[in-house]
Amino acid sequence: MTKPVRKIVIPVAGLGTRVLPATKSIAKELLPVVDRPLIDYVVAEAKAAGLEDIIFVTGRGKGAIEDYFDHSFELEATLRDKGKTELLDSLLDAKPAAGSVSYTRQQAPLGLGHAIWCARNLVGNEPFAIALPDEISGRGPGFITELVNAYNEVGGNLVAVEEVPLEETSKYGVISPRETKGNLIEMTGMVEKPAPEVAPSRYRIIGRYLLQPEIFDLLASQEKGAGGEIQLTDSMNVLNNEQAFHACVCQTQIHDCGSKLGWLKANVEMALDRPDFKEDFGAFLKNKLA
Ligand code: G1P
Repeated sequence: MTKPVRKIVIPVAGLGTRVLPATKSIAKELLPVVDRPLIDYVVAEAKAAGLEDIIFVTGRGKGAIEDYFDHSFELEATLRDKGKTELLDSLLDAKPAAGSVSYTRQQAPLGLGHAIWCARNLVGNEPFAIALPDEISGRGPGFITELVNAYNEVGGNLVAVEEVPLEETSKYGVISPRETKGNLIEMTGMVEKPAPEVAPSRYRIIGRYLLQPEIFDLLASQEKGAGGEIQLTDSMNVLNNEQAFHACVCQTQIHDCGSKLGWLKANVEMALDRPDFKEDFGAFLKNKLA
């Protein structure tokens, strides 16, 4: 019997240097795609997968993320007075239940592995998911739902992956496949940001994970790796030798908003998928490109 997954860690301490100057005074996780901040999509994705215990690993200058998930009494009162009940209800519906969100701080930017380790006391001794909010789910069931479904079949640890062109491997963690069964791949290991010449495959790790709590002890003794940072990938590599571990080739469409171009594309694609924008925005784009 696998222990159920209830918690999700969302690291939001990064500086967002790839999208400067937009992120100079706004947390990158609050950049909007169409009309919702990135982080809102990720929390909705977690909720849709049944995970309602959310742990944010924040950093300095990220206070606005806490405000986003709280009541805004002045705004709510104004909307109520003006009779804008639909808008008010949509804000109230999106707000997580009281006590379901926790925050801890990563005090220094020592890497993704270190950020996850900072959440160890809040996660405790149970399996948990991780979502990196640069990447959001587009069409499809959602990455976390896909990982949870796979976990219910095979247990252990999982990372979401997708195939990318070889020249892109140096931007991501890349897996070394051993055996494939359906959409699940057993691995001989994972490498962080390999150059194309040495990449063990074209399957790159998407920012969605489902891990067992033993990862925390590995992270605690983790040396700095690629880029001089404590890498989650390095500890997962060790865990892969000790426990069941699969890469899950997901069906969900991905929007990588961690770069300016990716963010622009995500806005266009998500707007075209929205019934309220599809027609007008589609016509506008057609005209522009004609
Ligand atoms: C991190 C991980 C990497 C993964 C990527 C997905 O890299 O270290 O393995 O492929 O997220 O977005 P980062 O983007 O933080 O450099």
